[in-house]
Amino acid sequence: MKPDAVSRGLIGAVISRFEQKGFKIVAMKMVKMSKNVAEGFYSPHKGKPFFAELVSFMTSGPIVAAVLEGNSAVEVVRRMIGATKSPEAAAGTIRGDYSLAITANIIHASDSEESFEREYGVISKLF
Ligand code: CMP
Repeated sequence: MKPDAVSRGLIGAVISRFEQKGFKIVAMKMVKMSKNVAEGFYSPHKGKPFFAELVSFMTSGPIVAAVLEGNSAVEVVRRMIGATKSPEAAAGTIRGDYSLAITANIIHASDSEESFEREYGVISKLF
C-alpha cells in the first residue's frame, strides 16, 4: 500500500479485501522507502517521464509492504486492484473505489512471478 493509502487511513479497508477473498497475509510491515530503495523497486520504469514523480511520491511517507499467499495470487490480486490509471479502474476494484489519481493509486502489486521475486528481493530487506 502506497503513502496515499496510509495517510488516508485505508490500510484496514484494503487489507480486509484480501483477507475476505481468502488470501493469507504471510508478512506485513509499515516502512519508509529511501530514495535508493524506491529507485531499485521501480527500476523497470527508469527513464520514463513519470519516474521522478513516482520515486518522490513513494518516499513521501510510510508504505505498508505485504506478502500474500493464495491460489493464483498474482493474477487475482492484480484483478482486485484494478487498472493502473485509477480513473479507468472499474468500480469494485481497489483503485476504482478509492482513487482518481495515477501516481497516488493506493497500491502496487507484482504483475508476474518474476516481478514478485525481484520486488520481494528489494522490499524484504526492509522487513
Ligand atoms: P504501479 O502499479 O505502482 O507501477 C508503476 C507506477 O507508476 C504506477 O503504479 C503509477 O502509480 C505510476 N505512474 C505514474 N504515471 C504513470 C503512467 N503514465 N503510466 C503508468 N504508471 C504511471
